[in-house]
Amino acid sequence: MKSDIYGLGIETSCDETSMALVKNGCQIISMNIYSQIKEHSPFRGVVPEIASRSHLLKIQSVFNKVIADSGMNPGRISYAAVTNRPGLVGSLMIGGQFAKLFSLVYNIPLVCVDHVKAHLFAPVLEGYRPEYPFLGLMLSGGNSSIYKLDSFHEMEKISDTSDDALGEAFDKAASILSLSYPGGPSIEKKAQECNDSGESIFTPLLRDRPRDDMTFSFSGIKTAVLRAHQKKNHPAVICRDFQNTVFELVERNLKKAAALTGIRRIVASGGVLANQTLRQRLDLLARTESLELIYPEKTILCTDNGGMVAALGYEQFIRNEICLNDFSVSSRR
Ligand code: KG4
Repeated sequence: MKSDIYGLGIETSCDETSMALVKNGCQIISMNIYSQIKEHSPFRGVVPEIASRSHLLKIQSVFNKVIADSGMNPGRISYAAVTNRPGLVGSLMIGGQFAKLFSLVYNIPLVCVDHVKAHLFAPVLEGYRPEYPFLGLMLSGGNSSIYKLDSFHEMEKISDTSDDALGEAFDKAASILSLSYPGGPSIEKKAQECNDSGESIFTPLLRDRPRDDMTFSFSGIKTAVLRAHQKKNHPAVICRDFQNTVFELVERNLKKAAALTGIRRIVASGGVLANQTLRQRLDLLARTESLELIYPEKTILCTDNGGMVAALGYEQFIRNEICLNDFSVSSRR
């Protein structure tokens, strides 16, 4: 009988210190996420230096809790998986050093994981394992991109942002409107106050885009939000129209990517996928365009978490793709 494999996933790439104990790469035994939102809130964005210091202060207690909650002896863990790219270098190093130490103490392999790819593996934790090929839509505070995944090792970026990431645009638009940080949830909430359904005041921004252009760009709409605010448009209308316009761009790019590649299966993840309006719109798009769409049902699995790191780490561990003495971190993929 095959014995179960337990892995520890460690995530510190940005402003969450998170760890999870995962069984066979697909079942969360325990997970702990410490969010630094309160620490970055006065600055309305993530301050790298504050992030690293906070990871350093919290990492031990996050580990203690995840082990205590699992009720397991850490000696039963078979691998330690850690995000080593892309992310804030100082923050990645804290998680990386912790993972390295843990693997040395327990004499188990260290597995280095790509953060973006890990997000696309989050649905595995809810029982869905996407078949290849599939398209990966990644919308977070640091990424707005579409990937084409032909196999476990073949992952090609086919669309990216030319300026801000979508989560970042939410955060900046919220800041212009003096809404609380992070901007995503506060813009979503404000937009719900608006119950009329007029045409978006930002629609002209999407006109005249070349038919085959799949690039994301959010700097124009950010300026338009500022202008609309200066003209004293109602904040709820601005938020509703901001969402409608940026989500329309997401839909258009996704449709183009599906047409270009002929791939109808899509896995979507990243913090912005916590947005209920986006989820509803993507569900509708999937129905009308006959796409197979998967995103983590639990919003906690869309944002940064140790579970997804352990899930992808498991796939690498069983393929014997482990870090030996070449452990390093990188801000890029
Ligand atoms: O993936 P994530 O947790 O981590 C980083 O990329 O750091 O994404 C965080 C981003 C933030 O920019 C936040 O404003 C955005 O996800 N976000 C949302 C929502 N919840 C979080 N954006 C839109 N709607 C939401 N409900």
